[in-house]
Amino acid sequence: MINVALPKGRLGEKVYAMFENAGYECPAIKENTRKLIFENKEKGIRYFWVKPSDVSIYVERGAADIGVCGKDILLEYSPDVYELLDLNMGKCRMAVAGKKDFYDDGSRTLKVATKFVNIAKKHYASKCRDIDIIKLNGSIEIAPILGLSDVIVDIVETGTTLKENDLVVTETIVPISARLISNKSSFKFKTEEIEKIVKCMRDQVKTDD
Ligand code: PRP
Repeated sequence: MINVALPKGRLGEKVYAMFENAGYECPAIKENTRKLIFENKEKGIRYFWVKPSDVSIYVERGAADIGVCGKDILLEYSPDVYELLDLNMGKCRMAVAGKKDFYDDGSRTLKVATKFVNIAKKHYASKCRDIDIIKLNGSIEIAPILGLSDVIVDIVETGTTLKENDLVVTETIVPISARLISNKSSFKFKTEEIEKIVKCMRDQVKTDD
């Protein structure tokens, strides 16, 4: 049995569709229930829906053999997992943004609000810029508006949230997309099954052109 942690939400539904196309269907998953675990014994597959930011925890600890999570989570938490495939979906970028009239003249410690503390620290360390990190858990865009921070480090997908809050991107840190990841010992002991899944998924990855 291969245990798959899927991120709850639109991305997870698209990823499930890829598994389904690959022959690992589990029709009950499409019923509108509050169930979180679904299995197809015949196909040897079990899916569970978890919070997107928790996928790598399930995979790292072996509760799931494989899963799908954003590169942002892999960069932020460095879980001890294998990154098997870039699914080229769920694409966005990690960026620095601030108020339109904010200019960092470097004269004082920069106040940075973010959910992604490690990514932000690494980014500014590479520029030898002193920062004061303010860890938030959501609605990060409010921080510079209320003067809680000078800038934010956050995910930008369409740019709508920034635009509607009069903020602009000042730097792109890294492009982000969804990745298929595997638990290390699962990959060792279930190599054949996992590689078969990777191949079926790779065949469905859409290229940009
Ligand atoms: C993310 C991110 C931005 C928004 C960007 O928030 O933190 O707020 O999406 O998307 P956009 O560029 O398409 O507007 P999320 O919806 O995950 O909620 P959060 O505020 O709890 O982080």
